Parts: sequence; structure tokens; C-alpha cells
Amino acid sequence: MRILLFLSLWLLALPGYSQQLVPQPAKASFNQSRFIFSKDTRWTCKNLDFLPESLLFGQFVKERYQWITSSSLSKKAGQLIRIEKISLSDTAAYKLKITPKLIILQASGKAGVFYGFQTLLQLLHGGGGKFIPCGEIEDQPRFSWRGMHLDVCRHFFNKNEVKRYLDYLALYKMNVFHWHLTEDQGWRFPVKQFPKLATVSAWRNGSMVGHYRDQRYDSLRYGGIYTTDDIKEVIQYAAARHITIVPEIEMPGHALSALAAYPELSCTGGPFEVGKTWGVFDDVYCAGNDSVFRFLEQILDEVVRLFPGKYIHIGGDECPKTRWKTCPKCQKRMKEEGLKDEHELQSYFIRRIEAYLNKKGRQIIGWDEILEGGLAPNAAVMSWRGTEGGIAAAKQKHEVVMTPGSPCYFDHYQHADKQKEPVAIGGLNTLESVYSYEPIPSTLNEEEKKYVLGAQGNVWTEYINTFAQVEYMALPRMSALAEVLWSPAENRYYPHFVGRLRSQIKMLDHWKANYAKHFLAE
Ligand code: ACM
Ligand code: ZN
Repeated sequence: MRILLFLSLWLLALPGYSQQLVPQPAKASFNQSRFIFSKDTRWTCKNLDFLPESLLFGQFVKERYQWITSSSLSKKAGQLIRIEKISLSDTAAYKLKITPKLIILQASGKAGVFYGFQTLLQLLHGGGGKFIPCGEIEDQPRFSWRGMHLDVCRHFFNKNEVKRYLDYLALYKMNVFHWHLTEDQGWRFPVKQFPKLATVSAWRNGSMVGHYRDQRYDSLRYGGIYTTDDIKEVIQYAAARHITIVPEIEMPGHALSALAAYPELSCTGGPFEVGKTWGVFDDVYCAGNDSVFRFLEQILDEVVRLFPGKYIHIGGDECPKTRWKTCPKCQKRMKEEGLKDEHELQSYFIRRIEAYLNKKGRQIIGWDEILEGGLAPNAAVMSWRGTEGGIAAAKQKHEVVMTPGSPCYFDHYQHADKQKEPVAIGGLNTLESVYSYEPIPSTLNEEEKKYVLGAQGNVWTEYINTFAQVEYMALPRMSALAEVLWSPAENRYYPHFVGRLRSQIKMLDHWKANYAKHFLAE
């Protein structure tokens, strides 16, 4: 038995065409024949629904490998890629049959067509941009939430950098981008009715330099805010790549930048300045003031107007109750609503926001602190302080996304020798620890497990001030998480993954991505 196991692992580890694929497909077999690309390679797509994905594939092939593929309306001879609609249980599933003259890509939905093309692009890259190996693939994702987060507040990343980040998600078949848009240290989401968000909240007059413990600051004005057109452009770019954006508007805490512009929304009245220090601040939105809810409702109206996705992230994490405990308005609210403590006041806050968004057909998701004081009726929970919050939420029949600090926080170090690494917030999440992660806690029963939608890698940017550094922290850990979330758990084998990554990473070289190279020494 052991011999057979080792033999099969050895075979898996042999260099071969499947070596180029990350995440690895559910089922794949290859042979020695090749589909050779030429200027006469054509594609045909009878189903007009799949046309945008087919055109985007044509665009990628042209940009990356200078092949100009044409639709089959041109009558030239040459290899053909035929896209067909068939019935499959998952709209993200696809099948590929690759023979020397013909590739058939079958899917039931547009997402499946997109993922099939992503697989072809990885294979074409492995073929030096010249050929695709022949074989058959049947593939589908394991989880429906394959997420990556980016904090654009501690440091700001412009729309082109965000689009580049989305390119990496698309490459690895990730489908959720959690866009963390508001924070103590900067507000990035424009709302016309509140112009001071752009002139005050988006800018700070200095930032921490080095690690928190050094308590050093510069005095440079730092910030930025997207335009509405930037946001629309990013949403469209993501949608074309089958990525849903989950925008996050933080409340009731992590709101200092908003309070700096509109101090009347706090318990004390201020004044405040946009945060320069990393961490958590005592000044938060006042839960006893109805104008706070009117403010947030108008912000959320704009979120709903722009973002088409079902989920809106309302934060909910790390909200100190210090001000609420001594605020007459907050205390009055607690008495009137029969709330026994400030945790229940936070629940009141989140439930009220949930009711507003539910009326607009949207669902809230929040960090696991929203469990404290009672979960809002329809809220999904993002479990970050370990997995306990996720387990508790699933047991209460609430949807869960797993993002435990270990191993899903990609702002942590990725190599044990921290001296060799750029300064990071702390912790250690190696590539192997990410690859070994199992999102479904074993303590859940079969029914409860269904509430785990998937997992997400989080890139908080206190210690990440360039986009090159975002890439360094996200890559290749994102690819390891992508495989956890896409591929069958039973096929996971770290040495095989590293072998495939070595080959596949050449695609990132081609894109001049700044990925961490520790795995090359493994
Ligand atoms: C968090 O890391 N504060 C969600
Ligand atoms: Zn208050």
C-alpha cells in the first residue's frame, strides 16, 4: 500500500503538462500531441452569451503572445477552438477536449467559459506561447467564495494597481475581491453629498515610519480617493473576469477619518484628525445619534447604486465601547431599546444597518465581532480571530467566510527568518501553511458545513506602502489559497504544488510581478 502511495506521488511529481496549472483541475490527463497556435487559429462560439469571454480570451492571447485569433467567420484553414454550451451542475464548471486540430471548451455558464480559457492560457504559457498540450480536463471549483481582500486605506492603491491585483485573482480563478474602502487612516470612497470625505477624510498629515513599537512618524501629507468613474471602471473590469467586488464601509469603529470631517457624528463632538497611528481608536460613530444612521444610509445608497454584488461588508470589528459607556445619547438609546450592555448596542447598530440594506435587496457581511451581543438575522460572518466565530455562526445557520489570521492574513511574515524579510506587522504564515489550510472546521456536522462559503486571503497594508510590496505579500500565497479553494482536497500535495508553481510562476515573470521567491529554495 505504502509503495503504491509513494509511486503515485512520484508520478504526480513528474514534470508534465499538468505542471503548468495552478489551481490544479479536478481531473486532467494529457498526451504527447499538441495544438499548435498559428496566425490562422480561429475560434467559434454559437452561443452569443459566451461572446464576451471569447473576445477577452482573444485579447489576452494577442496582448501576451501576439497571436491574432479570429472568429471562424473567416474561412481560413487552421486550428479551431469551439465553445459550446452544455448542461453542468455548476456554472463555474467547464470541460476541455484538446486535440491537434480542435479544442472543444464546454460549459453551462459564462464563468465556466472564462475559467476554461484561463486554463488554456496557463497551458499556452507553458507551451512557450506556441502550443497547448493535448488532453482532457473536467474541472469545477470546490468553494463558491474564493476571496482576496485589499486594504487601500492604510496605504492607497490607485485604480490601475487594483486592476493589476484583479489580474492575479483572475489568473488563479479567484472570484471575490473584498475592497476595504474606509479606515481610521483614510477614506477612499467618494460620495457627492459629503464633499469633505474627499477633502478631509482622504488625507492624513503624517504616517508611522518603521514598526509600531518604534513610535516614529513622518509629517508628509498622504492620501487619495477614487473618483466615481474609477470605481465604475474597476467594477466593470472585475465583472469581465467573473470577480464580484464586496465593498467594505467600516462601522461603528475604524471611522476616525469620517469623524475628522464630520465630528458631529461622534459621541464627544471632536475635534479629530485622520489617524496617523496604526491600531484602534476610541472615537467611533455615536450609536445614539440618528444623524449617524442618515449619514451611513446615504453612503450605502451610493454603494448600492455602484456595486452590483449581493454582499456589502459593514466592518464591525474592533469597536471600543469606551465612548459609548459615557455618552448620554448612547446610554439613552440603550435604555429606550432595552439593551443590557454596549455589545447589544453594537448589535442594535448592525441590525439597523442590516434592515436598511435588506430592504434594498442586499445582504450584509461583517467581521466576527458582529456575533457579540447577538447576530443580525441575515448577516454572513467573516471569521478572522481564529475559526471560533465562523464555527459559532455556522451553528446558528449563518453563512461564513473563513479568514483566520493564521494562515489567511497575508500581511504576516512568510519566512521564519524575519531578518531577511521587509518589516511586516508580525506573525508567520508560510506558503506551506497556507497550502495546508482546510477551510471547513472538523467540529461542524454535515449540515453546518454547508454554511462555509469558502475562505479569503487578507492584505492589510499598514506595513505595505508600494504596490510591488502588495505583490510580494500576496504572491505566491494567493496561488496556494486558490488551490485550497478550487481543487479537490484529496489531490493536495505540497511538493507537487511547488513543482507546478516553479513552472507556472514564469507567467508572473512575464508580467514582471514582484512575488516572494522563498519556495524556489524548497
Ligand atoms: C481585522 O483584522 N481587524 C478584521
Ligand atoms: Zn454616543
